[in-house]
Amino acid sequence: MTEALVDIRNLNVRFHGARTVHAVNGLDLSLKPGEVLTILGESGSGKSVTLKALLRLLPEKRTAISGAMTVDGIDVMSLKGRALADYRGGTTSMIFQEPMLALDPVYTIGEQIAEAVCRHKGISRSAGMDVALDMLKKVRIPSPERRLKNYPHEMSGGMRQRAMIALALSCRPKLLLADEPTTALDATVQIQVLLLLRELQKEFGMGIIFVTHDIGVAVEISDRIAVMYAGTLIETGTTREIIRDARHPYTRGLLAANLHDVTPGTRLEAIPGAPPALDARPTACSFAPRCPEAGPVCSAALPPVLTPGAGRRVVCVPKADRFAGATSAAPAVNA
Ligand SMILES: Nc1ncnc2c1ncn2[C@@H]1O[C@H](COP(=O)(O)OP(=O)(O)O)[C@@H](O)[C@H]1O
Ligand SMILES: [Mg+2]
Repeated sequence: MTEALVDIRNLNVRFHGARTVHAVNGLDLSLKPGEVLTILGESGSGKSVTLKALLRLLPEKRTAISGAMTVDGIDVMSLKGRALADYRGGTTSMIFQEPMLALDPVYTIGEQIAEAVCRHKGISRSAGMDVALDMLKKVRIPSPERRLKNYPHEMSGGMRQRAMIALALSCRPKLLLADEPTTALDATVQIQVLLLLRELQKEFGMGIIFVTHDIGVAVEISDRIAVMYAGTLIETGTTREIIRDARHPYTRGLLAANLHDVTPGTRLEAIPGAPPALDARPTACSFAPRCPEAGPVCSAALPPVLTPGAGRRVVCVPKADRFAGATSAAPAVNA
């Protein structure tokens, strides 16, 4: 068995403020080296918080994080100082929907990439500039020699997205975290960027955790899909298993509403009802109030984790058990 590149065990993230937000609850996730996994979920389901926790980007104040996370054998939770700085942008890097979150407006693209490479790889500035040029070529930015000297505001949105990818990959991370990186782009550019990411993933052999609310994007990019609902991962499987044989009623609902058109850019169509407020740690299935198949047991206790196949997980009460409480409430027979 190959060692996992990422292993997340029982991750919990809670924000304390005017009201408490239980953003991530008991999340277990693993990723093999070179694997592309998508976390698919509606807005507010805890996808970005999960990625930020993994890169240790969450604010320390008023945030309670517990659980264990390792990336390439590194204990992420205990990282401090220099080791944390090496990890961020070195072992693991991240790309965002908005490239200006990653790019600095006062430095040229070349300077930013060279600086990152010098810092993480300890090479000279001129060697860093060579890497920068090479990276701009790899992400297929036209006229890369000229673009090296551009400031971010001198580039188009699509080109800034490519520059951010070049920066993120310049230190050859083992893991790339991608938070809806193509959501703001129009459909054609979106597909080009997804294909580019897939190509670079193969060339560099890195693992990717990709986050999206778009089923078409998830299908296009991933080996495996993990479906998240209200801070909980409710189903994980290969892309094929999720598309062909979804087991959780929430996943099936999403697919039924959206599978007629899985081209990237298609938004998740709503399932009737709304996700719950995240003001308490769940004590039962969070989807039960909206679930067309729920029985009384679903709202009474946390659902079990079913493993219908190798690497598959479904957090759901088996059909046969959903009404178990109802029989005991019925008048006793042969009393
Ligand atoms: N720093 C924070 N403080 C308080 N609540 C937060 C913070 N960051 C995210 N949240 C809340 O956590 C929940 C999950 O957010 P997020 O992970 O961003 O969702 P998404 O799946 O859309 O990426 C949301 O209810 C959001 O409002
Ligand atoms: Mg998000």
